[in-house]
Amino acid sequence: PEPPPAAAVPQAGDPGLVLLRRIGVVDPESLDDYRANGGYAALRAALAMGPSAVIREVTDSGLVGRGGAAFPTGRKWEGTARRPETPRYVVCNADESEPGTFKDRVLMEGDPFAVIEALTIAGYANGAAQGYLYIRGEYPRALSRLENAIAKARGRNLLGRDILGSGFDFDIEIRRGAGAYICGEETAIFNSIEGLRGEPRSKPPFPVERGLFGRPTAINNVETLANVLPIMLMGGPAYAAIGTGRSTGPKLFCVSGAVPRPGVFEVPFGATLRELLELAGLGADAPAPRAVLLGGAAGGFVRGDELDIPLTFEGAREAGATLGSGVVLVLDDSVDLGAILVRIAAFFRDESCGQCVPCRVGTVRQEEALLRLSRGTGTRRTDLALLREVGQAMRDASICGLGQTAWNAVESAIDRLGVFGPDDHPTLKEAR
Ligand code: NAI
Ligand code: SF4
Repeated sequence: PEPPPAAAVPQAGDPGLVLLRRIGVVDPESLDDYRANGGYAALRAALAMGPSAVIREVTDSGLVGRGGAAFPTGRKWEGTARRPETPRYVVCNADESEPGTFKDRVLMEGDPFAVIEALTIAGYANGAAQGYLYIRGEYPRALSRLENAIAKARGRNLLGRDILGSGFDFDIEIRRGAGAYICGEETAIFNSIEGLRGEPRSKPPFPVERGLFGRPTAINNVETLANVLPIMLMGGPAYAAIGTGRSTGPKLFCVSGAVPRPGVFEVPFGATLRELLELAGLGADAPAPRAVLLGGAAGGFVRGDELDIPLTFEGAREAGATLGSGVVLVLDDSVDLGAILVRIAAFFRDESCGQCVPCRVGTVRQEEALLRLSRGTGTRRTDLALLREVGQAMRDASICGLGQTAWNAVESAIDRLGVFGPDDHPTLKEAR
């Protein structure tokens, strides 16, 4: 099938930006064009400084993962690189599937050589000779551009043996997902690549210790890797000066919903939500939205009167949300919030891999209770109490992030938006 139209990137090609500056400017099929626009300077810099200096720069940059969990990238790479076992692997997680997330798609479709160059640097730093890129099956245009980029890089000795005469051997294989959201969970990706069912493994051990094929593995999101290129070129400390002290660098946000100009936007961490929404066309005199879902289905809602929160990991946390993978879904008064929660719950019920009981059963019970609440059937107090008990059980006892976060947005809508009216938090026994 034809891929859907390219995602909107209103700032595409803005030379003042870090991650989006080549989008819409370079021909994504041309290695020569990529090089003419600064491509492969970062790999040359990395090869000149050596693997441990690369990791040091990444650590000094303060870069944390952009897939949603914000784990320090330098620490992850140190953890993998210092393991004695070989072979080690690097994996690019391109299974972007969080509802409302389409930033990695923009990078892969618009600047595919950058993703390949960055994964090569990750391979070099982590002492890996083989990298995998696991891409969701619904991204055919990104897939063909990455395949083209890998073939062209091989043809110019930018992949393969003795890359650029450095003695470093490295190659990349692409693996396609087949439509399962859970296959974006890092250990489910390993199972999928190994030909097993795409189910998460228990952690620890973390992938840095036992990852793909049981070997030390550094797995990073596409946007995380894209940040490694500017870090190599400007140095870790200069990169760390962008953003705020604890949330460094630039960040891509996927703005969708009730805004005039939806799309992917780049801002330094610390910009406010209001500033981001202004970039997306929400005028200063426009009515405030009813709510904004930050961080996606696993995130949380902020109210329309909270638009001045800074877009930092800590700012989002203080507001009771998370930045997650950069979802900013704007909801106006026309939206039926109850219906949105039912949709989110149905998504988790559908995508649960079914391996563990709290998530397999809890996501079903959550959806049922939300349906009753939004239709006005059942007993409101009992259903709210049931949701809380089921949500807590999923959070405490699920194996992976899907079950652990499946109640986040629902809890936030009940507590912060009062979507189903006041709730005095009775236990299920009291409510009955
Ligand atoms: P996590 O917190 O378990 O781990 C984050 C990363 O840090 C992983 O790579 C993990 O291996 C590593 N890590 C954690 N502790 C470690 C330690 N002590 N030593 C070494 N490495 C360690 O989170 P997870 O489950 O990987 O990701 C959850 C996030 O994914 C959520 O925040 C959600 O927003 C996001 N997400 C993103 C999607 C997308 O399409 N981008 C889709 C679904 C969820
Ligand atoms: Fe599967 Fe859900 Fe358990 Fe994760 S929490 S392993 S998705 S059943």
